[in-house]
Amino acid sequence: MSYLAKNYNRKKISFKYGKGSFLYSTNGKKYLDFVQGIAVNSLGHSHPKLIKTINTQSKKLWHVSNAFQIPEGEMLAKKIAKRTFADYVMFQNSGAEATEAAIKVARRHFYSIGKPHKNRILCIKNSFHGRTLAAIYASGSKKMTEGFGPKINGFDHFEFGNHKSLKKKITKNTAAIMVETIMGEGGIKVIPDWCLKDLRKICNQKNILLILDEVQCGIGRSGDFFAFEKSKVKPDIVPIAKGIGGGFPIGAVLMNKKVAEGMTAGTHGSTFGGNPLAMAVGNQVMDIIANKKFLTNVKNISKYFLLKLNQLKYKYPNVIKEIRGKGLLIGLQIYTDQNKFIKKLMENKLLTIRAAENVVRILPPLNVKKSEIDLALKIIKKVCSESN
Ligand SMILES: Cc1ncc(COP(=O)(O)O)c(C=O)c1O
Repeated sequence: MSYLAKNYNRKKISFKYGKGSFLYSTNGKKYLDFVQGIAVNSLGHSHPKLIKTINTQSKKLWHVSNAFQIPEGEMLAKKIAKRTFADYVMFQNSGAEATEAAIKVARRHFYSIGKPHKNRILCIKNSFHGRTLAAIYASGSKKMTEGFGPKINGFDHFEFGNHKSLKKKITKNTAAIMVETIMGEGGIKVIPDWCLKDLRKICNQKNILLILDEVQCGIGRSGDFFAFEKSKVKPDIVPIAKGIGGGFPIGAVLMNKKVAEGMTAGTHGSTFGGNPLAMAVGNQVMDIIANKKFLTNVKNISKYFLLKLNQLKYKYPNVIKEIRGKGLLIGLQIYTDQNKFIKKLMENKLLTIRAAENVVRILPPLNVKKSEIDLALKIIKKVCSESN
């Protein structure tokens, strides 16, 4: 009898401990963990530097209210601002909180410049921005919103890749376009650079803001610090979470000066957001991941992994339909049943997770070793041959 609510369909497996890319189950088995808490443990399990940081900070100070200065948070915000487009950072605890706060920042900007009617957010249909009430209505997904009415107003939707429909949906009331730079839950769909540039152009022409949700694809996951970086597009607002905490819950909204001006004292807050313990970990994660050499390694290992996966696709054209993704945010779109395929991978000691469009999502830690990629490839190949 479990007293946990039944809102998750949990697999019958639990873990005692983890080390790097591996998880060790309570029944004594070793798994290659290519879920990593869904792109959360960016540096794998039990990273020695993160353990040291959290141990040191836990003996000093865990929590103080945001009513006081928090030097660890000041330091992390500075590091993020120096490394990215952002002028200001507002810390939260999770991805959904960060996307909600991003929506608030956009609306508040127009309110503060005397245009409160500009408050609607234009999103991709069936995208994913989290599970709070506003975030589920931002997603435009029937499955996520069913039974949670009344509808939260203020969101419009366009089809992925359809810029004509997007342009039609923009009205005088549109405040922002909010998209995931790489759609994660939606099936690992990468928004191409030309498309991001076009989005920026449309936003400039129509005087609306661009919000790029990098909760899943940010913080090195794409091989660049942010997935939009190579496009040279500058968003106005970017919610982040997952990878920045390396397993510790952290969320944040990054914003440029123009929009940050609307967020005056008292307009937003969070009891836990930006606490010293979380900030100490965030600083350490940032020091490791925002390093050029580290990101080059992510790119190189990704190139190798994607090449080998494409070779498998060529070898098993009846099993693998498409290899999707960028960096270490990878999707195998398959022909056979997604859940059965994931189950077979798990029976062979490789953990993966589903995404929409019959995609098997593969999320190694960013510091994964080549030998671990080779092990995963061996298991995927075996399951492909058995599914052929
Ligand atoms: C793109 C994106 N935005 C927001 C969220 C919500 O994050 P959280 O589950 O931390 O609330 C997620 C979570 O998967 C996500 O992938």
